[in-house]
Amino acid sequence: MSLRGQKVIVFGGSSGIGLSVAELVAKEGAHVIIASRSREKLERAARSIEGEVSLHTVDMTEEKSVRDFFAEVGAFDHLVNTAADGPKGKFLELETTQAKVMMESKYWGQYHTAKFGAPLLNKGGSITFTTGVLSRKPMVGTSILSAVNGGLEGLTRALAFELQPIRVNAVSPGIVKTPLYDGMSEADRERYFSETAEALPVGKVAEARDIAEAYLYLMKNSFSTGTVLHVDGGHPLM
Ligand SMILES: NC(=O)c1ccc[n+]([C@@H]2O[C@H](COP(=O)([O-])OP(=O)(O)OC[C@H]3O[C@@H](n4cnc5c(N)ncnc54)[C@H](OP(=O)(O)O)[C@@H]3O)[C@@H](O)[C@H]2O)c1
Repeated sequence: MSLRGQKVIVFGGSSGIGLSVAELVAKEGAHVIIASRSREKLERAARSIEGEVSLHTVDMTEEKSVRDFFAEVGAFDHLVNTAADGPKGKFLELETTQAKVMMESKYWGQYHTAKFGAPLLNKGGSITFTTGVLSRKPMVGTSILSAVNGGLEGLTRALAFELQPIRVNAVSPGIVKTPLYDGMSEADRERYFSETAEALPVGKVAEARDIAEAYLYLMKNSFSTGTVLHVDGGHPLM
């Protein structure tokens, strides 16, 4: 199935994995709509996308903002959501209110976009969520993300059943070089990436493009639904 002429919405399309998905989708001849909170980030991202691109500022944690966004864009063909933001920290040390920020963002944000986007999907349409390797391979200080990712994987299967024939899938990335790690010092980040690369069976950490290709596969493959596609370099085997 080709994406040419289709309308694809990418929440989180202003950065990292989402931006790479948007670039690939536009290259295939689809009209890509990128959505995130920062106008400045969206405008910078749009400059790197070759093809038909529109941008919208939306905060996916705000139900009204998401509802208004979908009312404005109308019918479309595929929804991808790679957006997330929130603090991590050791279970006994992270304030519960802070843990809830991550849940509000990555879990409820994706939930809102599916809820208001699904009724507008054209025949053959799909939803692709983003989870992450932490659901299968937890690390100290990431319990809330492990829980959010596991919850989203359950939601993926439930919605694939309940929303049929809309296809609902998820991509579970491993460690990927994206602006997600911009909060670390350059030295710490490089050390983390090189130690992870050394331990992974594939001998490297991912570039955003390695993960983005999985979203295109799930959008295009009309026999895939209820799937969590693990693109993690064999991380759980470490
Ligand atoms: N990078 C990794 O190593 C890795 C590993 C496993 C899983 N993942 C998962 O992969 C996904 C993408 O990660 P990434 O590395 O590409 O992150 P990223 O570069 O930080 O991009 C996150 C995107 O989400 C948007 N966003 C955040 N909160 C939002 C909100 N409330 N409403 C709308 N947009 C929002 C951001 O834009 P604005 O700031 O403009 O809103 C940005 O476009 C996340 O779910 C992450 O947990 C990443």
